[in-house]
Amino acid sequence: MTDMAATIYPGEVFADTQLFDTGIRQLVPHYDLMLDTLVACISPNSRRLLDLGCGTGELSLRLLKHCPNARVVSVDYSPRMIEMAKSKLETTQLSERITFIQADFGAWANGEMGGEIGTNFDGCVSSLAIHHLSDEMKQQLFTCIGQNLSNGGCFWNADPILQESPQLQEIYLTLREQWTINQGTTQQEVRSSIGNSEPQGYSTQDRLATLETHLRMLSSAGFKTVANPWRFWGLAIFGGWV
Ligand SMILES: C[S@@+](CC[C@H](N)C(=O)[O-])C[C@H]1O[C@@H](n2cnc3c(N)ncnc32)[C@H](O)[C@@H]1O
Repeated sequence: MTDMAATIYPGEVFADTQLFDTGIRQLVPHYDLMLDTLVACISPNSRRLLDLGCGTGELSLRLLKHCPNARVVSVDYSPRMIEMAKSKLETTQLSERITFIQADFGAWANGEMGGEIGTNFDGCVSSLAIHHLSDEMKQQLFTCIGQNLSNGGCFWNADPILQESPQLQEIYLTLREQWTINQGTTQQEVRSSIGNSEPQGYSTQDRLATLETHLRMLSSAGFKTVANPWRFWGLAIFGGWV
């Protein structure tokens, strides 16, 4: 349980970590469909997978179920989020195939860590986390991911993106407001549970880039094929194969 008066790390979202799994589904339209689509882009035959910014473990859990022979390395800088992910997995057999590492993925990208995270991954995933990095660090992280994938490996990221026009930004805000109301609450109510975040390590508040910028960064990072398998109301999945 988080101390409600304390500040939180960027990306933790809720002052009380226990509220994350419910609250994120009220705020992010089609959160489950987004994660399911992302996981479908990963081969079920994968053996080694990396989840960056694993949070409460929703994406890691899906990977473990989708890839029965895979070991998953799940990275997050927040001890509270990792604790919650661990408690979810504790009672399942899946916990034998997951390793949690408390670390800043920006520090990994910047070469400040040893070989703790590992290399030669068949796939790397991330959801709702990397948009907290500056564009310069996003580029560095994509390059680092590409270098740590095995030949033909892939990376998929689900993140909010900057819209091509302010009009579109407004349209999506209205639609998302209505989405939250359809979940039986209001944005105001859900937002009252959101914590105050202070910059932490390489992450600060949202620093969105357009889909086009992300795809260009991936190409610069050495991804041979880049793609955008899903886009909905300001959120997108993008990535590719090295
Ligand atoms: C909104 S949550 C999403 C969690 C999960 N991927 C999901 O979709 O439910 C974002 C997570 O990214 C983590 N995070 C943000 N910046 C990070 C960084 N630089 N290094 C490691 N973790 C980071 C936060 O602690 C948080 O757990």
